[in-house]
Amino acid sequence: MTHQTKTPGTGASRLPKKKDHPAGKCLLSRRKFLLASGVTTATVMVTINSGKAATEVPAMVATYPRKKIAKLSALKADEPVGFEYPDEGAFAQSMLVKLGTEAGGGIGPQRDVVAFNYFCTHQGGDLSGTYKGDTKSLGACPLHLSTYDLTRHGILISGQAYQSLPQVLLELDGDDIYAVGVFGLIFGRYDNLQG
Ligand code: FES
Repeated sequence: MTHQTKTPGTGASRLPKKKDHPAGKCLLSRRKFLLASGVTTATVMVTINSGKAATEVPAMVATYPRKKIAKLSALKADEPVGFEYPDEGAFAQSMLVKLGTEAGGGIGPQRDVVAFNYFCTHQGGDLSGTYKGDTKSLGACPLHLSTYDLTRHGILISGQAYQSLPQVLLELDGDDIYAVGVFGLIFGRYDNLQG
């Protein structure tokens, strides 16, 4: 199976009507549900090769919401700001912090503003309140002492975990900071968008 993405309405192929594909009713309902829950969706055309025949069918994919979380001018170095992302479900609590030193994925003039999910990737220990400004780290985890480096995409410094802390991807628009995605799987989820 190969995948081909087209901007809806601009591709040469027409979108099948509901009567062409009985499953269309199901797709529409799913789209309505996702839009109502704040998750953005897009239509992509998927080419399915079965034997000699190739068929294009529409598929719905979910993308991360774009959420305004803070103003750059309001941030103070080493003072984390809490927010929830990508939704308000389980394990969505996250932190935004101006490190005062350049960091991987950092935004702003100094590339020092980063954001991370608050739950340890080992067994979900709550890391809120554990930020250390002197080492720019989050931890030690209250359960088994894992500590994460926020200057290097949340890589593990020490402890029981073996995966980096999920990093919330940021965009700067004027003075507004937006969360736009998550790099890494949030603890307790099989899909970051399924809270
Ligand atoms: S849950 Fe954090 S180190 Fe085990």
